[in-house]
Amino acid sequence: MSSPRPAPKSFHVKSFGCQMNVYDGARMAELMQAEGMVEAGADDADLVLLNTCHIREKAAEKVYSDIGRLAKRAGGKPMIAVAGCVAQAEGAEIPKRAKAVDLVVGPQAYHRLPGLIADAVAGRPAVDTDMPAASKFDALPARRGGAPSAFLTVQEGCDKFCTYCVVPYTRGAEVSRPWAAVMDEAKALVDGGTREITLLGQNVNAWTAEDETGRAQGLDGLIRALDRLPGLERIRYMTSHPNDMADGLIAAHGDVASLMPFLHLPVQSGSDRILKAMNRAHDLASYLRLIDRVRAVRPDIAVSGDYIVGFPGETDAEFEETLAAIREVGHAQAYSFKYSPRPGTPAATMDDQIAPQVMDERLQRLQALIGDQQLAFNRATIGRTCDILIERKGKQPGQMLGKSPWLQSVLIDGGEIGDLVEVEIVAAGPQSMHGERQRRAAA
Ligand code: SAH
Ligand code: SF4
Ligand code: F3S
Repeated sequence: MSSPRPAPKSFHVKSFGCQMNVYDGARMAELMQAEGMVEAGADDADLVLLNTCHIREKAAEKVYSDIGRLAKRAGGKPMIAVAGCVAQAEGAEIPKRAKAVDLVVGPQAYHRLPGLIADAVAGRPAVDTDMPAASKFDALPARRGGAPSAFLTVQEGCDKFCTYCVVPYTRGAEVSRPWAAVMDEAKALVDGGTREITLLGQNVNAWTAEDETGRAQGLDGLIRALDRLPGLERIRYMTSHPNDMADGLIAAHGDVASLMPFLHLPVQSGSDRILKAMNRAHDLASYLRLIDRVRAVRPDIAVSGDYIVGFPGETDAEFEETLAAIREVGHAQAYSFKYSPRPGTPAATMDDQIAPQVMDERLQRLQALIGDQQLAFNRATIGRTCDILIERKGKQPGQMLGKSPWLQSVLIDGGEIGDLVEVEIVAAGPQSMHGERQRRAAA
């Protein structure tokens, strides 16, 4: 952050972490395009923006190796911007530790990116990790649709303070975007050609706002309104917290046709003692009850989740409880992580931190179980007929890749990006499936 330099004409955004970061990355790209900058590759962009994740140590450290590489880039060092949750957590410490960094912007301040770029160009310090009361969304250029499937952030932040997690610190308190803002953005996406919207939030099922008549609505009300939006074929949402799984939302899974049969509902552990130490404020039984209730209205629902192994003090027996819980739930897929102590969180200073090799062993066993369940779930869909939404080209010539209602990747021959086509699932692997187009009988 010293001598003046030419203003960047091109940019490249690299996003790490959760879908919300992917969404923010897309919004930052749109903002820079509105400023007249053009998108370019990481090897030749004038400005490279690293949109970072702080959730685990590995994710957070990755940014520093990226900065190191960019500082020595063959075509010359670009202007380097650090955004996202590491930016929020470490702020002005980042350019102190990595001198090559020119600009730091937190997840609630990125609408101010143009001013920060101007500061960096002028050689002024450019660090902004404010969490202003006014929403950044109001200051961003209008959304453009296009991709068949798009993310739409409706809720940000978290008030849950699980003892292992940095999100309440990096993303701030729970905030819901207003009804009209969400509806307008959804309409803009659909007008641009988007056919599937995934509503995003750190706790998306905590979303609440007044509709245009002044009535308080929860996420289910929003989903029902979006279901009536012409041209929008599919609705998804993630990530949800068990304590915010309202009756209306469960009911919506039974009677809203465009709400896809997929639920990402993390439980984290199968041990009530660990859940308590995690401050999850729910036990395993209440989680299992929720899954039962959703399955009662939507028997084919694909259940996804998150698991942490090796939380401080986790015994072998408590880990076995987690495996038993997974067997009971029967996942279509799930994410799992080794516990990572994060600075400033209560769990980081708890006694009985678990040895890395114990965590490795537990993670392997857990992932093997999830892998088996995923394959079983995929195999069970063989012979079923369903729509897939084509999102991109496959690896083989002429092959296309789409998503099933259960969020499986399905490969088919032919078709165009954005098509919803009816296929029969004919083969299943752990990661992807093969579909054959159904020819409707000629009339
Ligand atoms: N709000 C969401 C997810 C937030 S982060 C929820 O509560 O479900 C995504 C996942 O990362 C979490 O569900 C958790 O499984 C994992 N995670 C969060 N902090 C972690 C840590 N310190 N170590 C390992 N995994 C962590
Ligand atoms: Fe983190 Fe817990 Fe909030 Fe999820 S609910 S973001 S795990 S604090
Ligand atoms: Fe990572 Fe921040 Fe998302 S810490 S998981 S990018 S909310």
